[in-house]
Order: sequence, then structure tokens, then C-alpha cells
Amino acid sequence: MFNLDYTLNQLDRDGIYVIPEPIPPEKVMEFNSFLGAFDKWGSHVVAQSGGRLATDESVFACWPMHVSILAPHFFEKVLELSPIADAYLEWKSLLYSINSFETRPSPSNPVGGVNAFHRDGDDSKFISLFMLSTHVFKPEDGSHEFVLGSHKDIPGMGVDGREIKSVTGVAGTLFFAITSGLHRGVRPMSHPRILTWARWGVSNPPSSYLHDQLKPIDSPMLGRRFPADDRTRRMIHLIAK
Ligand SMILES: [Fe+2]
Repeated sequence: MFNLDYTLNQLDRDGIYVIPEPIPPEKVMEFNSFLGAFDKWGSHVVAQSGGRLATDESVFACWPMHVSILAPHFFEKVLELSPIADAYLEWKSLLYSINSFETRPSPSNPVGGVNAFHRDGDDSKFISLFMLSTHVFKPEDGSHEFVLGSHKDIPGMGVDGREIKSVTGVAGTLFFAITSGLHRGVRPMSHPRILTWARWGVSNPPSSYLHDQLKPIDSPMLGRRFPADDRTRRMIHLIAK
């Protein structure tokens, strides 16, 4: 389904790579319907919501991690694409989160940490797989922007004058990004944008796992979806065990 060497070369060069095949629309609808049955919290990860559910005034709304894990289809896609993350992390990868959050529309100024260009510091080395869970046909629908090659920057390098990749696409569009590079989510202008993302690191656990107060779900909750092989179980033990 994917060419590992080619994908790794693209990722290494650019810091971002869009998977050619999106998740089919009916599967994205099933994923979103599942999420829709649960309460949303008032931040982009629950731990930063101050224990408050999202209100009409919330800029961000998110679901607890177990909801995005248990939702149909994305978890399987994460496992299917794990070899890419694993190879990038030199076969030491640990999957440590699967989360979804919504960004509400506003013409107002960017929110630092998500909607302004920034670098994530999740772990000494880490990589993320994103899924656009709503259509993003143009940048103002909430595209993900990434400064090409910025995952290889030396300290102090900024955005000015550099080439920026803007990821748009149908709901179900998947892309890897090395978000230690410069990136941002453009704040949508008209409709809420939902983004789902999985993260792999190399530490046990990565500092972001502690910061985001993430916990594994009990594997029986996944039923037959819980992988059978020990190696994969080790790789995902921070999110399901
Ligand atoms: Fe980020």
C-alpha cells in the first residue's frame, strides 16, 4: 500500500508527507458519528481544559483519548501505517496518543501554541500522523501549514521567506508530520475543523504523554481489534494494554 523507502525519503527531506490514499468517506463518517456521541472538553487535549466541558465560547473542543481510540477505522489505519513511524524512529517507536480536537471558526488573531507557527517538543524524537476529519478544501477551512525542511533547522531559524506546505483535502486525508519543525493549524473561517492525530515517540513515556495526562485503555475494550502480536502490543502499550 505504501513504499516505505520513498515515504521515508520524502519525510526526511520535507518533514511532512501526505499519504496518497485518504480514508474513504463512509469510514470518516462512521468515525465522526462515533465521536459525536461523546462530550467534548474545552481545550485541544482534555488535560488542558481545566476540567471544563466545551461551551459555545470555546476556541477548541476535544474528546478524551479513549474515544478516538475506540472510534472505528482510525486505530486500524494507525497500525497499518505504523511501520513508517517505526522506521523513522529507528524501530524504537512507542505509540503514545490518538486524539481528536475541533477548532471553531473565527476571523480573530491566531491562538499561540496551535494556530501560530510553533514547534512541538513532545519527545527527543517523535512523529505524528494526522487525519483531516472534516473537509479542508482551502486554507481558510483550517489547513495544516508546515515550513518545508524545518525539522532540520538549527536553533533560531524562523519562517520568513521559506517555502510552506499547506495541507488541504477531503475529510479522511492523512499525512505524517515531524512537528518539531515549524507548523500551525490555520484557524477556520466558516466551519469547525476536526483534526485527529496519532503520535509516536521513543521515550517510555514521552514528556508530552505525562503533560497531557494520557493513560492506556484496557485492551479488552478493543475486543478483536487489539493486535495479536507481542511486538505491536509493546509498541502500543502506552495507549492500550
Ligand atoms: Fe503543534
